[in-house]
Amino acid sequence: MDEKRQELIQAAVEARHWAYAPYSGYFVGAAVLAESGEIYDGVNVENAAYPTSICAERVAIFKAASQGERNFLAIAVVTENGGSPCGSCRQVMAEFGPDLLVFIADDQGQLLQETTLAALLPGAFGPGDLPAKNL
Ligand code: THU
Repeated sequence: MDEKRQELIQAAVEARHWAYAPYSGYFVGAAVLAESGEIYDGVNVENAAYPTSICAERVAIFKAASQGERNFLAIAVVTENGGSPCGSCRQVMAEFGPDLLVFIADDQGQLLQETTLAALLPGAFGPGDLPAKNL
């Protein structure tokens, strides 16, 4: 995972250049590694109607999910100061399992924190909390 970790962080560093953040000026890049071995990146995309903006982590995960990915090993998040994923992004990550590794790095690709989704969002509401339905 050591080599993959740096590769993932680098993908997030590079993606971050495409962040669209004219309102906050806070540029975020993310990259998620699927079990398939594919890496999907994402950036924050802001909007003049502020609440419709979306975070980099969710763009990366939604991109992957919309390509059929369902199992994820790790996600890297890159900002200028090592910001941590927001609550909404943590909830989206929780949908796909608590064991996800989370690498938080700065824009130089320096790893600042390595953690897991379970540590970032203990007791998450997940698919198992919904009553079974015969869909
Ligand atoms: N942002 C992310 O992309 N990910 C996070 O986890 C935290 C915040 C974005 C949203 C907004 O475009 C900017 O950073 C400032 O909040």
